[in-house]
Amino acid sequence: MNQMLELRKFVVPEIIIGDGSSLLINRYIGHFASKRPMIVTDKNIRGLPWFNDITAVIDDLVETVIIFDDVTENPKDYEAMLGAELFLTHNCDLIIAVGGGSPIDCAKCISIVSTNGGHILDYEGVDEIALPGPPLICIPSTAGSAADVSQFAIITDSKTHAKKAIISKKIVPDLALIDPEPLKTMDKHLRAFTGMDALTHAIEAYVSNAQSPITDVHALEAVRIINSVLEPAFKQSPKLADLYQLALASTHAGFAFSNASLGAVHAMAHSLGALLNLPHGQCNSILLNYIIEENFYAAPHRYRQIAIAFQLPVETAPDDQVLQQLLSRIDTMRQNLEVPDRIIVETKTPTLIKQLVSTTLHDPCIITNPKVFTESELEVLFEKIISES
Ligand SMILES: [Fe+2]
Repeated sequence: MNQMLELRKFVVPEIIIGDGSSLLINRYIGHFASKRPMIVTDKNIRGLPWFNDITAVIDDLVETVIIFDDVTENPKDYEAMLGAELFLTHNCDLIIAVGGGSPIDCAKCISIVSTNGGHILDYEGVDEIALPGPPLICIPSTAGSAADVSQFAIITDSKTHAKKAIISKKIVPDLALIDPEPLKTMDKHLRAFTGMDALTHAIEAYVSNAQSPITDVHALEAVRIINSVLEPAFKQSPKLADLYQLALASTHAGFAFSNASLGAVHAMAHSLGALLNLPHGQCNSILLNYIIEENFYAAPHRYRQIAIAFQLPVETAPDDQVLQQLLSRIDTMRQNLEVPDRIIVETKTPTLIKQLVSTTLHDPCIITNPKVFTESELEVLFEKIISES
């Protein structure tokens, strides 16, 4: 069949993006007829002034607001189970996720378990959720995960220390209120990590085996914005307009990857992040160029379009030059953002490498990577990026 005629599905939530959008939450409390909403967040976010502004506009509209703030970075299965128990105990009727990717992913998991029962890890994989959960509203405080618009939730299995991906349109949020104001609380390193995460979403979605003409538009637009905004927003204190651009790029990248899925960078980053408890964006930043080098000749025409979106002069250049220019631009970006080029561990053992390879091969993101990796190829890659202190 002509590839352009293949059936494609594109699912996104309602979004309101712009200054002050988070305070429009009051309208939606009424829209969803909520009387007992539960806010899912973390302890750092809970103490911030803009968080109090959000709760202040809700308080008078409802009987009670339950706040669950026991979410940590790389959220764990038991945190989701605890949140679901709290949701059911208090007869909550709506979930408001406030924060970065971790609280939003945990909120999605709470939604799954509170409606479908069982354990959150029962729902690992693609389309394993029977029933949709309660209404879910997301207010992101970072510009990268795009968990607020995606059909992905990543949760760590606390027994095996492996990240599990849950992918289903039943966890696409109902509403994302994307407001640049909460993004002011990101420090420059968080801006760098989350921005590089968004860039990785865009690139992996564009070269994914499940891309479509609709996801392509969003992926390339995300690359264009990040190319021009991320480094200036790292160097100096960003203005609200710059934070808006970062949020816009993250949202475009989210539309793309939520519907085209990801690739080997994310499969390996999930593995590293869970086993070594590292920031997701840092893992992606380190891995991105290694995977581009591996993938390039499986989709050279696609990487050329990415290079053009980076405004590199490669329209008529031979493939080898396109690859070198793309690697060089991304490496410069990583250095400008002060992201290290490798991961340092106390002891690098063959068991650690084997475990990383095994969880990578079981991650659903590896399925849509343009190149099929062997176990030994992944071993070599992990050996390259991990050093002993
Ligand atoms: Fe990501």
